[in-house]
Amino acid sequence: MNIIVTGASKGIGYDTVLEFSKNKENKIIAISRNINKLNDLKKVCYEKYNNEIKIIQYDITTSHIENQNLLDILENIEFVDIFINNAGILINKKFIDLTQEDWITTFDINFLAPVNLIRLLYPKLKNSKSAHIINISSMGGIERTQKFSGLSSYSSSKAALVNLTECLAEEFMDDNIHCNCLSLGSVDTEMFRAAFPSYHASVSSEEIAQFICNFSQNYRNLFNGKIIPIAISTP
Ligand SMILES: NC(=O)c1ccc[n+]([C@@H]2O[C@H](COP(=O)([O-])OP(=O)(O)OC[C@H]3O[C@@H](n4cnc5c(N)ncnc54)[C@H](OP(=O)(O)O)[C@@H]3O)[C@@H](O)[C@H]2O)c1
Repeated sequence: MNIIVTGASKGIGYDTVLEFSKNKENKIIAISRNINKLNDLKKVCYEKYNNEIKIIQYDITTSHIENQNLLDILENIEFVDIFINNAGILINKKFIDLTQEDWITTFDINFLAPVNLIRLLYPKLKNSKSAHIINISSMGGIERTQKFSGLSSYSSSKAALVNLTECLAEEFMDDNIHCNCLSLGSVDTEMFRAAFPSYHASVSSEEIAQFICNFSQNYRNLFNGKIIPIAISTP
């Protein structure tokens, strides 16, 4: 399968790429800003699983939308089967302290970047026999779940991604592109530890990565436009 994962330099994205790379048939493109960490990931995938992944240093914010490296790689592949919209940021600030810039940055990375990337990848997803877009959202992005003080911009941006998932599933129906959303609870990563320093997340990013890979590869035919909560606790 041809697979693209954003936010691959650490946390859930890193482990998701590693998990996909166990299958040598998988051709993976890993995206993030930190080229050193991507190089480390590339090395690990090769040493552990003999899989030569492609890496792209790419700031996915709208001001950097054109990325020649990605365009060059896309020109040489006919289709994309799985696209994992995983990159995200979390600004933990009380609503009253959030600046206009905080809101724009959060929505840019957590919502507009997935929009832009799906637009860019659409022709390649359409060429796949089993295209599957996975949007990684949060429990806080689902209505009527517990909300947390300080996470208004983050949770609102993730709610937008939830809604986009349902819209795209409908709109891409005739193109045979399925779009689902995994709304995660607490996962032990840098992002979680920064947001909730006094909490312990019992779920590891490796466990979530296994789920993401299994779900995206094997359950695509059973789900479309679904918002799936993956949580045993909040937070
Ligand atoms: N951990 C949790 O408890 C939890 C819960 C619910 C949902 N989630 C969601 O799961 C996803 C992964 O989270 P995580 O916990 O693994 O976070 P993380 O460890 O902070 O990793 C975030 C990833 O996003 C990338 N990223 C951020 N801004 C970017 C930009 N402008 N351009 C390109 N890449 C960018 C980062 O790479 P660079 O810095 O190298 O660019 C990094 O690889 C996020 O969407 C998050 O909202 C996490």
